[in-house]
Amino acid sequence: MNDTASPRQQPIVFLGKRQQGGGYGKQPGRSDDFLTLVEPGTPCGELMRRYWHPVGISAKVTSDPAKVRILGEDLILFRDGKGRAGLLHEHCAHRGSSLYYGKVEDDGIRCCYHGWLFAVDGACVEQPCEPGGGQHRDKCRQPWYPVEERYGLVFAYMGPLDAMPPLPHYDVLEELGPDEELQQEDKSFYIGGGTTAENPVAPYSWLQNFENVMDPFHVVILHSRFSGVQFRQQMAVMPNVEWELCDHGVMYRSVRKTESGVLTRITQTLLPNVRIVPSIELTPGKGREVAWLVPVDSHHHRSFGVARVPKNEEPLYSRRSRMATHEGKTWWEMSEQEHKQFPDDYEAQSSQGSIPAHSDEHLATSDKGVVMLRRLLTRQIRAIQEGAVPEGTGPESQRVIVRAGNYFE
Ligand code: FES
Ligand SMILES: [Fe+2]
Repeated sequence: MNDTASPRQQPIVFLGKRQQGGGYGKQPGRSDDFLTLVEPGTPCGELMRRYWHPVGISAKVTSDPAKVRILGEDLILFRDGKGRAGLLHEHCAHRGSSLYYGKVEDDGIRCCYHGWLFAVDGACVEQPCEPGGGQHRDKCRQPWYPVEERYGLVFAYMGPLDAMPPLPHYDVLEELGPDEELQQEDKSFYIGGGTTAENPVAPYSWLQNFENVMDPFHVVILHSRFSGVQFRQQMAVMPNVEWELCDHGVMYRSVRKTESGVLTRITQTLLPNVRIVPSIELTPGKGREVAWLVPVDSHHHRSFGVARVPKNEEPLYSRRSRMATHEGKTWWEMSEQEHKQFPDDYEAQSSQGSIPAHSDEHLATSDKGVVMLRRLLTRQIRAIQEGAVPEGTGPESQRVIVRAGNYFE
C-alpha cells in the first residue's frame, strides 16, 4: 500500500450534513434586469418614462447650462432669457458638440460650435452659417423633454408625448399658511451620508433605496442596534407591521408599544419611485415631505425632496445630518473604521452592490413590503408591454392624498 500519496490522490471524505453547502462551485449571482435597468428601451426604463421626475431645483436652474444625467440619458438643463426652463439632449443635433458649452439667450441655447440656436422645445430657431439663416432649419429638432415647475422643483417627462400624464399634486405640499414654506433638497433628506452637495449621486440602483422605504425592520437593527439610536428611542422598539397596497403604491403600518403609549407609523411609496416617510423626529401627524428616488442610470441614483416646514427653520437636511452624528462627527467626518463601527443606510445599501445579485437573495417574512413593491412594479411593466396604462398615470392619481404619518394613542 502506498502511504505517500499526494493530497490529490487522497480519497474524498464524505461530509456530514452540517459541512455541506460550502462556497465551492457557486455560480455567480444574477441581478434582475427587468426591474432595475432604466436606460432607453429597457422594460423598467419604459415604466419610468411614463411618469414625471424631478431633475433640478428651480432656484438653481439658471442661464448657466448644467449637465444632468437621468435614466441613462445625458441632458442639459437651463433657463432661457424669458424664464422658461429647458431640458435638451446634451449633444447638438448639428454635429454633436455639447450644449454644456452653449450660451443661453432670450429664446433658447446657442451651440458654441456653429451657433445653431435651439428653443426649450428643441425647435431650431437660427442657423447663422446657413444661407438665409437656415431655410431648412425646421427640418432639425434638438431632442427635448417637456418640463413643468411645481413646489420649487423642475419636473421632466421623458416618455412618449401622447401618453404624458398631468403632473400630480400632493395635498401636504399645497395651501401653505403664512408662516410656512417649502424646502427643497437635491440630495436625500436622509440617506445617511454618501452624497454631498457637489456630488449628490449615490453609486447604486434606485431600486435598493426604494425597497429600503418598505423595510421597517432595518430601523431597529441598522439605525438603533448597530449605529446607536439614530432617530428617537421609540423607533428602537421592534414593531408589528402590516403592509398593504394603497392608491398606486405600497404602504405599511408599523405599531410600537412604547412607554409613552402606542405609536403607529405609516410609511408610503407611490409608483414608480416616490417615498413619503413621516418625520423621523416623530412629529405627530401627516408626513410633510415627498421625495423622489430618481435613477441617474441603472447603477446610480439621486434623490429630490420637498418638505413643508415653518418659515426660517434650519434646513431639514443639515438637521438630519446632525441627528446621525457619532461622537460629534457627521457621516462625512467619520473614518472608515468609524463607518464600520456605525454603519448607516449608505453602507447597508451601497454594499449590496451597484445592483444586488437578486438570484442570491433569501427573502423572508420581514421582506413582504419589498416583495409587494417588486410585484407592483412588475405588473406595471407588463401592463405597458401589453399596451395598457400603468397605475398612477390616470386622472384619478393626479391628486395624491398623503397617508403617511406618525399617530400616537
Ligand atoms: S455642432 Fe452645434 S452648431 Fe454645429
Ligand atoms: Fe434607513
